[in-house]
Amino acid sequence: MTFSRRRPAWGRSASRGLALLLGLLLGGSAAAFAADGPRAATAAAPSQAAQKPGRAAIASANFHATNAGLEVLARGGNAFDAAVAVASTLSVVEPESSGIGGGFMAVLRRAGDGREVFIDARETAPAAVDSKDYLKPDGTPNRDTALNGPLSAGIPGEPAGLAWLAKHYGKLPLKDSLAPAIRIARDGFEPDSRLREAIADRADDLRRWPASVAKYLPGGKPPAEGAAWRDPDQAHTLELLAERGADGFYRGEVAQKLVAAVRAAGGNWSAADLAGYQVKERAPISVDYRGYRIVTAPPPSSGGVAVAEILNILRGFDLGKLDRAHRIHLVIEAMRRAFRDHNDYLGDPDFVKMPLEMLLSPYYADGLRQSILPDKATPSSMLPYTAAADPGMHTTHFSIIDKDGNMIAVTSTVNYTLGSTFVAAGTGVLLNDEMDDFALVAGKPNVYGLLGSEANAPKPGKRMLSSMTPSLVIGADRSAVIGSPGGSTIITQVLEGILAFIDGKSATAIAAQKRFHHQFMPDRVDVEEGVFDPATAESLKRMGYELHPRQSWGFMNVVTWDHKTNTLDAASDPRRPSGLGKVQ
Ligand code: GLY
Repeated sequence: MTFSRRRPAWGRSASRGLALLLGLLLGGSAAAFAADGPRAATAAAPSQAAQKPGRAAIASANFHATNAGLEVLARGGNAFDAAVAVASTLSVVEPESSGIGGGFMAVLRRAGDGREVFIDARETAPAAVDSKDYLKPDGTPNRDTALNGPLSAGIPGEPAGLAWLAKHYGKLPLKDSLAPAIRIARDGFEPDSRLREAIADRADDLRRWPASVAKYLPGGKPPAEGAAWRDPDQAHTLELLAERGADGFYRGEVAQKLVAAVRAAGGNWSAADLAGYQVKERAPISVDYRGYRIVTAPPPSSGGVAVAEILNILRGFDLGKLDRAHRIHLVIEAMRRAFRDHNDYLGDPDFVKMPLEMLLSPYYADGLRQSILPDKATPSSMLPYTAAADPGMHTTHFSIIDKDGNMIAVTSTVNYTLGSTFVAAGTGVLLNDEMDDFALVAGKPNVYGLLGSEANAPKPGKRMLSSMTPSLVIGADRSAVIGSPGGSTIITQVLEGILAFIDGKSATAIAAQKRFHHQFMPDRVDVEEGVFDPATAESLKRMGYELHPRQSWGFMNVVTWDHKTNTLDAASDPRRPSGLGKVQ
């Protein structure tokens, strides 16, 4: 099934018309300022083709997970086996961010043949999805059913994605890669402060579901500091996945328990929804920028399209020649324009016809670039748009390069903190609340007052739009595996990480660097404390920007590979102290 666009796609002339209009309205000289970018993609940078680092590096948001990946590498596994170990362990030790009740997106590069592929293990809407379930009787959106309990949960993709990775790219049987997660779930671990805080924050929602209380509020309280915390049900579910592959989750005992629990609590999953789940392999988006090739996530993520569009706009400017305030100004304006398109056009490629050729074209970027004024913010209200949807916040990302040069970037999520807060009795599986990433009620504003877009409307079996942007940056001298959680800020954080890497920064500096974000609407720049020195901040305000302090930023995990010295580096975001980046 496909949807046609509600308004014609913009062509180059329309964008240039807009540029002229803006120039007249804002009193600037847009055309004079725009530099012409290269018309066609530059030749792909030579990559590390035959080079092997001889060592491996993993960076993840939790040291148990990084160590699980290293353990599997030591047993003879490759980066893809290690990814299975890291993701499944995060499912146990960092359930507030991701898990086997959720989904992931990954970009990988196989060293042997240079194959680059996007693995889409995103959740899908159940066949019985009904927009009315997300409306209150008075016709306003029901945020509770969208965010909490079984109606908020899509059919999980992560278990199938892990089985897929092991079968098609790994060297070890799934049971070996899942062994660390099973062991930790069975023997127990000490929850870190962020998990304890997440449970305390969502305690009222968790209390609505008996199996969630049993798992997360033992004795009525979040687990205490230093307590060993076990989940035999989750260990058993992981064992069935290890023994039977995807069927261990999507058919038989676990599937029956999932469907029974969901339906008993008012949800609408069926056995056929689970049995029919499919992992999709898609061609990644590839964009050239300053001699590097960025390999990133295509729809149903909006992340790669937005990153590519921003880079295509920026490569027509000589950023190095500008002062910091003007450099930031251009980056913000590129973000603004890319997010406008993100809101408007994107959805599940199996359901929606999208103007990707236009969005990724250097000619389209030329037009957008010319609509940017030299030293004035463009109000978002002056850029035509129809709709917007806002993906959720809580997700995790990890990066791996192995000794042979296999690379994988994985971003995984259950959507908001602790997902739907609904644990399916007898499985230990915490379900996601990814249905909120759909524009659930067409024509009705969501919790942020934004209208949903038809391209991202829920349909049976459809995947909800994501911001997840797992990315590889391939260069002649250096390469990187990069990504971040953070809802819609994922895209801008990954972009800033890519720009920092290309500027020569180390993995540690990239993970730690302060961040800023603009997403078209609301029309403001979210800023991390200290990101701009006072003079730059003043200059940006004079150009018309509202700088809005934001506390919460994603935990970025980066691995870099220097081809000249053939050395790896790994860094975990210092904002998350339990993370670990390690080279072994
Ligand atoms: N649930 C967050 C995302 O997929 O972007």
